[in-house]
Amino acid sequence: MQRTLSIVKPDGVARGLIGDVVKRLEANGLTIIAMKMIHMTKAQAEGFYAVHRERPFFGSLTDFMSSGPAVVMVLEGDDAIARYRDLMGATNYKDAAEGTIRRDFATDIEKNVVHGSDAPETAAFEIGYFFNAFEITAR
Ligand code: CMP
Repeated sequence: MQRTLSIVKPDGVARGLIGDVVKRLEANGLTIIAMKMIHMTKAQAEGFYAVHRERPFFGSLTDFMSSGPAVVMVLEGDDAIARYRDLMGATNYKDAAEGTIRRDFATDIEKNVVHGSDAPETAAFEIGYFFNAFEITAR
């Protein structure tokens, strides 16, 4: 069993895509073990994406991620990190495979609907960034 962090980003929430994302997670055997809606401050978005702070898109990305509500979830399942990344598709929706969330819904490399952790260490940091132990349901 593995856990990963999923975010329906502000563009996905604003466009009414929470249900579409959740549907795909559940249909593909990923179990949602924690879930809430948040609205990050700019500083919280900067902390979450600190690994990207030297990238040219950092300012724009953190403006976007703090621009409105987002839904954060902890997903659990066998090989959850890779399986969720397969469901999301490539960061750039233009490169994403047919049938992936980003290919089907994203409109922009930045406004790409969803986020998912890329490795076990990142997942541990990202889950802990938004959830404490009491908010994650025991199974
Ligand atoms: P995400 O998977 O959340 O990880 C970092 C985010 O930065 C990414 O999705 C996009 O939202 C954004 N991003 C990555 N690359 C670029 C880019 N070249 N230009 C703008 N935004 C980017």
